[in-house]
Amino acid sequence: MGTLRMPALETERLVIRPFIEADLEACHELLDREGGEGRSREARKHWLDWTMASYEELDSLHQPPYGDRAIVRKGEPRRRVIGACGLAPCLLPLARLIDPNASPPNEGYMPEVGLYYALSSAQRGQGYATEVARALADWALRELHLARIVATTTYDNGPSQRVMERIGMRLTRNPRPDPSWLQVVGILVS
Ligand SMILES: CC(C)(COP(=O)(O)OP(=O)(O)OC[C@H]1O[C@@H](n2cnc3c(N)ncnc32)[C@H](O)[C@@H]1OP(=O)(O)O)[C@@H](O)C(=O)NCCC(=O)NCCS
Repeated sequence: MGTLRMPALETERLVIRPFIEADLEACHELLDREGGEGRSREARKHWLDWTMASYEELDSLHQPPYGDRAIVRKGEPRRRVIGACGLAPCLLPLARLIDPNASPPNEGYMPEVGLYYALSSAQRGQGYATEVARALADWALRELHLARIVATTTYDNGPSQRVMERIGMRLTRNPRPDPSWLQVVGILVS
């Protein structure tokens, strides 16, 4: 396997590309003003610098290409960001979710490769997130030779769960109340 770096990915209508410095305002709008994170512009600038540096640093360490990428529409200026997506490390007790009644029980947490996607609210309802999730999952399963890829969300995030289902993920639910952040996990096997 050569470099693990993720190139720009093209889908029918979209391009998934690395973030660049000129995306600061779009990131702040999407992730802080619209999204739940609420960071200041300065904090978002710090995040953007770290994100851009990580492309190079992870590649030089032969690490998977974790981190956010920008979603732009084909045929529009490449700086017009309509969403963010990417791969994220997820620490999960997946064996327990897949088979809660296993004997002996398998309680161990393992790092999994997770998919992440978010669209600005004006761009939802057009299938863009599904297009993005499918392209990321296809690329990662093929190029990183993954046995599986996951996505996580909350019980009340129906749109995200529907994206998972549309790309062929099997949805599992944490049968326990804790940890509170572990709710719905979609799993796609290669
Ligand atoms: C999760 C999120 C990305 C889903 O966005 P979305 O627009 O619902 O998802 P898609 O882009 O796949 O669009 C699917 C919708 O477009 C419709 N659609 C229109 N044209 C379509 C096409 N060509 N292909 C597929 N769907 C299409 C579908 O019918 C579907 O609508 P429905 O759910 O009402 O049936 C969005 O809600 C979001 O950004 N939420 C905030 C961030 C977030 O929660 N991210 C998940 C992290 S856990």
